[in-house]
Amino acid sequence: MRSYTLLAPAKINLYLEIIGDRPDGYHELVMIMQSVDLCDRIDIAASSQDIIRVRCDVPDLPTDRGNLAYRAAELMTQKFPEAFAQYGGVDITIQKRIPIAAGLAGGSSNAAAVLVGIDLLWNLGLTRAELEELAAVLGSDIPFCIGGGTAIATGRGEKIAPLKGLDNIYIVLAKYRSLEVSTPWAYKTYKQQFENTYLRDTNSLTERAAAVHSGPMVQAIVHQDTAEIARKLHNDLEKVVLPAYPQVLQLRETFANAGVLGTMMSGSGPSVFAICETQKQAEEVKLQVLHTISDEDLQLFVVRSIKNGIQVTSQS
Ligand code: C5P
Repeated sequence: MRSYTLLAPAKINLYLEIIGDRPDGYHELVMIMQSVDLCDRIDIAASSQDIIRVRCDVPDLPTDRGNLAYRAAELMTQKFPEAFAQYGGVDITIQKRIPIAAGLAGGSSNAAAVLVGIDLLWNLGLTRAELEELAAVLGSDIPFCIGGGTAIATGRGEKIAPLKGLDNIYIVLAKYRSLEVSTPWAYKTYKQQFENTYLRDTNSLTERAAAVHSGPMVQAIVHQDTAEIARKLHNDLEKVVLPAYPQVLQLRETFANAGVLGTMMSGSGPSVFAICETQKQAEEVKLQVLHTISDEDLQLFVVRSIKNGIQVTSQS
């Protein structure tokens, strides 16, 4: 039976601005996403049984439709019934390293890997644009996860415009294992408090997205100016998550006190990341934060920005 092994990287949001709401209940966003080298491993193999089977080394994670990776495979069977009939079912094995429900797109990246893996397994030859279109059906962050690197995401987050990739920026990621923030709650609360700031007409939305595209963060990325990128970090969802989750605020403050270039919550949290000058500083900051917040529930990772999304590492 043929099989592929893929690496599915986590992402952080260097920039997340909520600029409006939408009739479908989602929000209009302008985000700048960055892949990092903290990856889950996904093995995808053809199966003799005509079913989708997901296995995962984290027992708490659902292995049925509750798992985005399962839904990604199911979508492929629906979109390509002839290939499904020809090649049979798929066995998906997920080895998790990315913290779950963290604002790091772990589940989204797994789903993106399943789309890429099944495309290969079934010899579909889908283009990146076709894969991104399928990904958008499953979730707002999944199209970015396909190609990864550094990119602007607009609309619900599903419209991707790649930027010059940021290589080798060292970042410390922190998350309390037992702390979860509901993404729908974060957006709903933001809307309750800030709806008066929303742009309503298509022209204003397009202009705002264009302004970010030609704004200081993208300029800093173009010039690969890490210190300036760190100064321009932005996430509107901090306005609702930090007041409600003191532990997230404490992580932000502890990173800032450790002298990092910049720190911000990722996505709807509760992960917080810090941009460092060097790998050495990142390792030192990690130890300092572990020492300051001596709590076994706290997970810390030193990661690095990468220029790719889903990668196929082996095939057999
Ligand atoms: O698309 P995804 O399933 O990742 O979104 C999770 C939730 O986040 C949505 O149900 C919605 O409440 C919120 N969301 C939003 N606007 C976006 C993306 C997500 O309101 N652009």
